[in-house]
Amino acid sequence: MLTNEQINNIRSSVNIVDIVSSYIPLTKKGKNYFGVCPFHPDSDPSFCVSEQKQIYTCFSCKATGNVLHFIMNYENISFMDALKIIANKANIDISIGDTSKYLPDKNKKLFEIYDVASKFYQNNINTVNGGKARDYLHNRGFDDEIIKEFMIGLSLTNHDLLTKILINSKNSYEDMIKSGLVVKNNYGYSDIYNNRIMFPIWDVTGKVVGFSGRIFNGEDTNKYAKYINTKETPIFKKGELLYNYHRAKNACRQKNFTVIVEGQLDLIRVYSIGLFNIVATMGTAFTKEHAMLVKRLARDVVICFDGDGAGEKATLACGNELENLGITPKIVRLEDSLDPDEYIRKYGKNRFLEKIDNPISFMDFKLSFYKNNKNLNDNNDVANYVNTIVNELSRIDDDVLKELTLKKLSLESKLDIEFLRNSLNNKKVVKKDIKIVTNPVRENKYELATKYLIYYMLKDKKAIKIYNNSKVFIPNEKYRLLAKEISCFYLNNGFIKVADLMNSFVNDDDIIKLIGEIEKLELSDDYDIKKINDCINVLKQYTVNYETKNLDQKLHNTDSYDEKIALAQRLLDLKKEQSKVMEEKKYE
Ligand code: UTP
Ligand code: MN
Repeated sequence: MLTNEQINNIRSSVNIVDIVSSYIPLTKKGKNYFGVCPFHPDSDPSFCVSEQKQIYTCFSCKATGNVLHFIMNYENISFMDALKIIANKANIDISIGDTSKYLPDKNKKLFEIYDVASKFYQNNINTVNGGKARDYLHNRGFDDEIIKEFMIGLSLTNHDLLTKILINSKNSYEDMIKSGLVVKNNYGYSDIYNNRIMFPIWDVTGKVVGFSGRIFNGEDTNKYAKYINTKETPIFKKGELLYNYHRAKNACRQKNFTVIVEGQLDLIRVYSIGLFNIVATMGTAFTKEHAMLVKRLARDVVICFDGDGAGEKATLACGNELENLGITPKIVRLEDSLDPDEYIRKYGKNRFLEKIDNPISFMDFKLSFYKNNKNLNDNNDVANYVNTIVNELSRIDDDVLKELTLKKLSLESKLDIEFLRNSLNNKKVVKKDIKIVTNPVRENKYELATKYLIYYMLKDKKAIKIYNNSKVFIPNEKYRLLAKEISCFYLNNGFIKVADLMNSFVNDDDIIKLIGEIEKLELSDDYDIKKINDCINVLKQYTVNYETKNLDQKLHNTDSYDEKIALAQRLLDLKKEQSKVMEEKKYE
């Protein structure tokens, strides 16, 4: 176990600005650096990194933290793993063994069940019973090495083999059903998957969280679904996962681009010809969450979906989703309605890789998409087409691209380019600004005083001392805990540093967010003791009122004469105190 001091040393051995800017582009504005927040879907630069405080805060969502939280959340890893990465960068030698014990164990049972299942399925494919499945994969051109690398397995014809194994490894029926791998029926419990080739699906950290099972014995696809995916569970959300993400991460960052395909089979095929910077959706629409994941991988993106009409529609939807986050993808369309797997088998790997190296722009893709089924000799069709494209152009910033596209459009529509340019200029441009989301709930004066007080406490030890001596009671529990932690930190270190304080709240996201909220106040730097005392006095009022109410209640409830006298005396003292607070306020 590392001490707080060691953790703080590692944290302060790097500059948060250097680390964050190796993940996302930052621009300096005043004292701070701004970029697009990687933690919520956005294309505005509302993500602020403070070099002075060594923390980040997003003005739009509530993401906050120091460099360790950044790495942790960006890479989806544990605090200890983030610490390892930073220590590594700073050439600090730390030996922490197995970090998995630091992982939250809320879903531990489900992860364990998937681990057992995936080993079981993988083993099956290597036994005599796996002969046909192996033949099927070999015939499709996947060798044993790829089978092993993608941990491809097999569910057998018996209906309850996995169920039995899970029982033997001491899992409850409840967890087994929750995992989506076991179902209860009239006869008892049985496996969901029978006689299918099993493709494990990993989460972003590389743990198996689901399966896609494919038929392979020539079953009738009218009777059996070609693929059965595991149902959604707390650990498996198709809309938030991309197949192969954890394995593609490094390759994408190295190559600085990411290829997206539809379906795991296509991905495995492309991977097997040596293109490793690739992820896949799994038969669901491309979501905002997918786009955020892709954005974390690399700046450039190439969409290479199936060559059919459905693939074309999905390409447009995916491209738009990415554009919403400020990424303009490039597009590859495959001829003859082929998918990447079929294309590679028909035309060979080189022709495919060449296509990936020569994608078309998203705008050119849109031109051809919106021209589909349109007759450019028909005025209605032309008007429709031109209006759509001008609309699209009004949403982009690139002037050169606008001009080039207008030229093309002018040729196709036989409309004068000046006319097109005018109609583009007439479109209202929606200027994007940094959105600062302010809390719409009106805060009461105590809450406000608390926030200001803590703001000063985070800035200056004088405020901490005043708070400690005042013995005021902070009404809000979370703030109270935070104030206590600040006092403790100061007691231990003799100074206050917000970036290190944040290490005390690794598992308390709410408090980290509170610190972020408070840091966002950005009160002026020239405050004085009087301002701090103001806050204390407001809180004193609360404390006194609270106690008065308490005593009143007790006085009312007691029958003992002696107790009544004692309570009345204390009430009197409090009243004096109260008027003192009021007096102090009057002379300010
Ligand atoms: P495709 O039908 O394009 O399959 O579905 P594919 O990738 O070409 O696979 P092969 O070549 O036929 O083996 C694409 C993705 O949609 C999901 C799967 O995730 C698949 O990879 N899908 C497809 C299903 O979930 N269920 C289905 O019945 C079919
Ligand atoms: Mn296919």
